[in-house]
Amino acid sequence: GVAAPGAAASPAVRAGGDRLPQALTFDQDIYTVRTDTLTDANGESVQVTYRFYAPITYVTRPVDATHQSLVISVPVAIDGKKVDASRAPIVFANWVGGYFPVSVAAATGVGEGVMEMPGGQVLVNNGNDTNLPKLALAAGYVVVEPGARGRTLVDDGGVHYGTAPAVIVDLKAAVRYLRANKGRVPGDTDRIISTGTSAGGAMSALLGASGGSHLYDTHLTELGAADAGDGVFATAAWCPIADLEHADMAYEWCWGTTKLARTGALVDQTLSKELSALFADYQASLRIDGLHGYGRLTARNYDDYLLKTYLWPAATTYLAGLSATARATYLAANPTIRWDGKQASFTWDEYLAHMGGRNKGVPSFDAFDASTGENNLFGNGTVSARHFTQYGLDHDTTGLGTKHLDKDIPGTLDLMNPMHFIQQRNAGRSRYWWIRLGTSDPHTSLTISSNIAASLGQLGDSVNTAMYWDAGHATNRDPAAFLSWIAGITG
Ligand code: DHB
Repeated sequence: GVAAPGAAASPAVRAGGDRLPQALTFDQDIYTVRTDTLTDANGESVQVTYRFYAPITYVTRPVDATHQSLVISVPVAIDGKKVDASRAPIVFANWVGGYFPVSVAAATGVGEGVMEMPGGQVLVNNGNDTNLPKLALAAGYVVVEPGARGRTLVDDGGVHYGTAPAVIVDLKAAVRYLRANKGRVPGDTDRIISTGTSAGGAMSALLGASGGSHLYDTHLTELGAADAGDGVFATAAWCPIADLEHADMAYEWCWGTTKLARTGALVDQTLSKELSALFADYQASLRIDGLHGYGRLTARNYDDYLLKTYLWPAATTYLAGLSATARATYLAANPTIRWDGKQASFTWDEYLAHMGGRNKGVPSFDAFDASTGENNLFGNGTVSARHFTQYGLDHDTTGLGTKHLDKDIPGTLDLMNPMHFIQQRNAGRSRYWWIRLGTSDPHTSLTISSNIAASLGQLGDSVNTAMYWDAGHATNRDPAAFLSWIAGITG
């Protein structure tokens, strides 16, 4: 290897003779030992003794070390039994949510990352009820939790320094740090499994899809990221809020006729139908075949595909798991959900009526007044929010008076979108994928995660995907199955 540009003057020489900037050389002797009683993925209590490596800045020229740092947890004993995790797979769990900044700077143990919301509010574990880092540690894996910049960060000069693509650049820099320290850092750096939920699921999918891409090089070099690969072995994404530039059209195709859960009102149906029509063109342009030999996915057959591939199987799994009495009660309360004794079925319209309605207005992501979190995500410099679709810009109500998206927008969108890299068949991508979504999650179109899964399947990657029936946003209903999946693909 070659030292990263701007490397420290006296690079450490590693066993293999590689050079790594001193600041990026992992010191395996600096840790604290903790013993925590954790709950494992089966709900059993386990006592885990582990080495905890306190926040390590993963770049030599951090913009914001509070966010550009990671923590590492390494199990050494589980229920009193010694474990050797020195070459165990590494679960690389990001806590990103809402595209907000994530910090592990105050963490003193596993699973304590915080998501920073406006007004100083912090949400531990991204508000998830499933603490995947703790479950993974209890299962014997090395766990790495990276902090990362997020959209709301503003410096003293009023410059937004955490907007796109900062979050993915940081996550890549963290992966590079691990891979540059191969053989030194605990765990198998060639068996990194990335995880994340919602915005973090999108970023996990992006990390997996964009591995090794040179599109990020200037950003990574600027930060003094390690000169190492940033591909990951396997990728898991729960309810990824991805493909943002097509999310408005996809949303209207999916939820356009449903009522706002909050008010019971329909959104403007003219706008909704216009966007939905744009989705038909977009979906056709992707040329994606469905999983399990379904054939080409279009706006006309996508409802049928979702029913057969995801929604009926999800309801079937759910109902089959209930006692006969509980199932009868559920079916009586939900007469549109039919059960033939083995399988659940319903029409698309029945599903829409059942799922509870939309939670976003129209357009849902690139609002005409540039008021969404995603508008903020595409802010730049001292501009806190920008349009990132032509449709949003064309209907702008902020008085921009321009017909053109800012010049950097298309390139930045590519850097933020896993679909870009999947469509390019990026060779450095993960080949193993775990994709999950709740069927009552209206935060984005069902087609977003489904297109990711189907296009990866079409490339020949191993895709394990399912939906959780009646589950809302950010649900993780099968963490034990996920950990078994990791064992299966790394064993
Ligand atoms: C998340 C949710 C959203 O509705 C969104 O637009 C972006 C991110 C989240 O929970 O991370």
